[in-house]
Amino acid sequence: MKKIFAIGALLLASVAMSAQPQLTKDNIDDVLNAMTLEEKATLLVGSGWGSMTAGSMTASATALVPGAAGTTRAIERLGVTQAVLADGPAGLRISPTRDNDPDTYYCTGFPVGTVMASMWDPALVKELTTAMGNEVLEYGTDVLLAPGMNLHRNPLCGRNFEYFSEDPFLTGKTAAAYINGVQSNGVGVSVKHYAVNNQEVNRMQNDSRVSQRVLRELYLKGFEIAVKEADPWTVMSSYNQLNGEFTQQSYDLLTTILRDEWGFDGIVMTDWGTKEGTVKAVKAGNDLMEPGAQVEIDRIIAAVKAGEITQEELDRNVRNMLEYIVITPRFNKYKYSNKPDLKAHAELVRKAAPEGMVLLENNGALPMKNVKKVALYGTGSYDFIAGGTGSGNVNKPYIRNVAEGLTVNGLEVNKNIQTWYEQYIALAKTNLRNNGSGSGVLLGDPVISEMEVSREFIEKMEPATDIAIFTLSRNAGEGGDRYALDGDWTITGQERQLIQNLADVYHAAGKKFVVVLNIGGTIETASWKHIPDAILLAWTPGQEGGYAVADVLCGNAYPSGKLPMTFPVNYLDIPSSANFPYNYKDVQSGAWDFLWGGPQRQTKNVDYTEYAEGIYVGYRYFQTAGVPVSYPFGHGKSY
Ligand code: GLC
Repeated sequence: MKKIFAIGALLLASVAMSAQPQLTKDNIDDVLNAMTLEEKATLLVGSGWGSMTAGSMTASATALVPGAAGTTRAIERLGVTQAVLADGPAGLRISPTRDNDPDTYYCTGFPVGTVMASMWDPALVKELTTAMGNEVLEYGTDVLLAPGMNLHRNPLCGRNFEYFSEDPFLTGKTAAAYINGVQSNGVGVSVKHYAVNNQEVNRMQNDSRVSQRVLRELYLKGFEIAVKEADPWTVMSSYNQLNGEFTQQSYDLLTTILRDEWGFDGIVMTDWGTKEGTVKAVKAGNDLMEPGAQVEIDRIIAAVKAGEITQEELDRNVRNMLEYIVITPRFNKYKYSNKPDLKAHAELVRKAAPEGMVLLENNGALPMKNVKKVALYGTGSYDFIAGGTGSGNVNKPYIRNVAEGLTVNGLEVNKNIQTWYEQYIALAKTNLRNNGSGSGVLLGDPVISEMEVSREFIEKMEPATDIAIFTLSRNAGEGGDRYALDGDWTITGQERQLIQNLADVYHAAGKKFVVVLNIGGTIETASWKHIPDAILLAWTPGQEGGYAVADVLCGNAYPSGKLPMTFPVNYLDIPSSANFPYNYKDVQSGAWDFLWGGPQRQTKNVDYTEYAEGIYVGYRYFQTAGVPVSYPFGHGKSY
């Protein structure tokens, strides 16, 4: 009797076990068949905003990786683990400190996407992102939400710094190298924002209206190269609409083109804000809704019960998710150290950054010779912009400024000028914080407006110095586009005056004057570029910025970058300027667009944007139309 009972118990146990197989790479079908409808729906929806303490300075240690942007959901019963998703294109973005934890979790601030594209050197890009991917792995995250690779359709898109180029080929090749570097660590990427997300104004609702030819030849081409040459683990569908349909709900974009034509076999996740159309998104092949909410799980369950989502569609997406989960380090119990070699990565960034810096002008001023004492002007010289703002910002351990860089290169920065700037910056930052616009770490560093400097002061300082350097800085970021006026794309009268005064005084003394551009995107240059003796476009090259700039100015590194986009003479020369929201101050926010968006309003360039310029973006226009530019695509001098 006992024997029969024991055999019965064994049988029951084995039936129970077969009803809950533990996930491995080899039993995905068994697990899929064992999953309930609720479990399947759960796997298609992220764990919610709660996991999104992204980028805050300190986060509760309860999250798997505090400060990461989000996670997928676990199904303990079947051994399905969570995957951790974290930003961003210039380096891993997690909280640098944690409650009741003496350790710190800073990440390296790498050169932004535009600097990597300016290198025209896929091998170097891959070397940089191999280091970046190591930080993703060692801090316990599974997927880096990068690269950002939307085309520079118009220079005033607030997130162009995260992206690569006006040219789809350079974009695709740079992205492929970027992806191969990150994924060589056994972690994933999320190629974004797929697709045609080329402005920040009303980004959650805006409808990009593009012809099929232009879509294929320009806006999808980079993504196609990246998918075919680098096999990304995931793709992130964008917020916007494309020809009247949300990209995250477009079967044509997410299944026909991405999977059937290009052979993509990873998962598609939404950007961080799904729409009411969850059911359409599931059917279209958007596997994961991020950041995720219970209401989306409920919608999926109801739709399957009502037959709106077929069992095949549901199981197709769930299988994609299971195949993605089993390759993540977290599923494979990788023992991450929380101690990546930040020092080695910093050295790599300092060495690599000059490769992406572009020498726009040089009339014998650079590299500096017989220079010991430097008159260093510009807030950017002392408060250097390492990268852009928003989810593309990195919580870096420090940012090297130009004054520090010149000092470590053995030069003397005039103390009188330095003290004045440092006091001015400290006050300006306090002001920013007091009136709340100094969002600090969460969104990155706002630019301090330039300090007034009189010609008399410059004349007084000149005799004690051998050269004058002015760092002109600009920043931009997620949630807003730049302005054509207001000293954003144009330089301000004050900046122009300072350039003119420095040139006049130093030329009168037989000395040189150099401008360093610490900017995230193109600015107006034609009206003033003849005034200084040299112009070094440093971009926003990461945390070692000031060191790398000084290395170049002193000749200890060479500026090897070439422009990945055109610098036009006038903003209005650009064909897309007729169809771009370059002055909508009132909707300059990505956060509140759901208040603004919706079908009731049909404002041009806000609710819909006509890509009327067609293929004529960047050099495709300027060369074809024979319109003169300030600096052409591919421009860059060297020593
Ligand atoms: C943001 C950005 C996206 C980022 C995500 C998570 O809205 O559009 O680039 O990866 O949310 O922070």
